Amino acid sequence: MPLSKKNFDVFTTRIKELSGIVITSDKEYLLESRLMPLVQKYGLNDLNGLANYLKENKDSALLNEIVECMTINESSFFRDIKPFDYLRDSIIPKIISTCPEKNKFHIWSAASSTGQEAYSIAMTLAEMPLCKDKIFEIYATDIDPNVLETAREGLYTQFEVQRGVPIIMLIKYFTQENGDRWRIKDNIKQMVKFEKFNLLDKTEEIGMFDIIFCRNVLIYFDNQTKEKVLVNISKVMEPHAYLFTGGTESLIGVNTTLQPVEGMVSVFR
Ligand SMILES: C[S@@+](CC[C@H](N)C(=O)[O-])C[C@H]1O[C@@H](n2cnc3c(N)ncnc32)[C@H](O)[C@@H]1O
Repeated sequence: MPLSKKNFDVFTTRIKELSGIVITSDKEYLLESRLMPLVQKYGLNDLNGLANYLKENKDSALLNEIVECMTINESSFFRDIKPFDYLRDSIIPKIISTCPEKNKFHIWSAASSTGQEAYSIAMTLAEMPLCKDKIFEIYATDIDPNVLETAREGLYTQFEVQRGVPIIMLIKYFTQENGDRWRIKDNIKQMVKFEKFNLLDKTEEIGMFDIIFCRNVLIYFDNQTKEKVLVNISKVMEPHAYLFTGGTESLIGVNTTLQPVEGMVSVFR
C-alpha cells in the first residue's frame, strides 16, 4: 500500500523532532527508498507498517535508525576550497595575532559526516609554519554514528581522495592500502576527536571554540531550527571566534546575532 498522508506525517514529524531535518512532500520518494531496508529488517510489509511500528514503540532506538537512514552524508576533502584558503590566509593568522599568548586552539567541525572536513582542516594547519608551535584540537561531531565510524577509521577510496586532496598532500598525509584505498596518517588523525552530537542539543558542556565549521547541514533545517542551532553555536564561540557555514547556506531571514565577515563568503562572527 502507498504511504498514507497520516503516516508520512508520523515520519516527518518524528524525524524533525529528533534531528531538525525537514522532509517536504516532494521528497516522499526519499522516505520510500531509504526506509525500505528497515521495513525488511523488522519483517514488515511496507512503510505504513513501519510507521505503525514507530507509533507503538516509544523507545528511541528505531527513531535513531530512521534518522540515520535519512541523513545526507555527502562530503569531500577541501569541499568548496575557499573556507580552507580563508583559514590559512586570514583567519588563523588573525586569531593567533589577537591571542599571542594562547597556545591551544579549539576547532569544531559540527556536522562532520565521514571526516573529510575535519581532516582537511587538520592538513591545512599541518601545512602552516605559523601553527608549528601551537596545539590545535579538532572536535568533529555528527548525529549519525555510522559516518563517525568511517571517519574514525580514516580509510578512503581512490575516488574519495581524488575528489579534493592535492597529490602532494595525498603523498604526505595518507598511506596507500590494497592498491585503491588511502588511510589518513596518525599525525593528522591524532588532531581530531570524533563524537556523536546532535546540533539540537545544548552545547554548554562541549567547551569553547575559536573556529567552528557548520557546513552543508543548516540547509536541511527550517528557519526556526536554524535559529535554535545558531544560538547553541553562538554560546560556545570565543569572542574572537569565526563560524563557517556552507557556500549555499544563506542566513537571510534567519534571526541571529551573527554578522557576516566582510570580504568573505559564508563566514560569520
Ligand atoms: C551533507 S553532510 C555535510 C558534511 C560536511 N560538513 C561537509 O560540508 O562536507 C551533513 C551532515 O549533517 C549531519 N546532521 C544532520 N542533522 C544533524 C543534527 N541534528 N546534528 C548533527 N549532525 C546532523 C548528517 O548526519 C550529515 O553527516
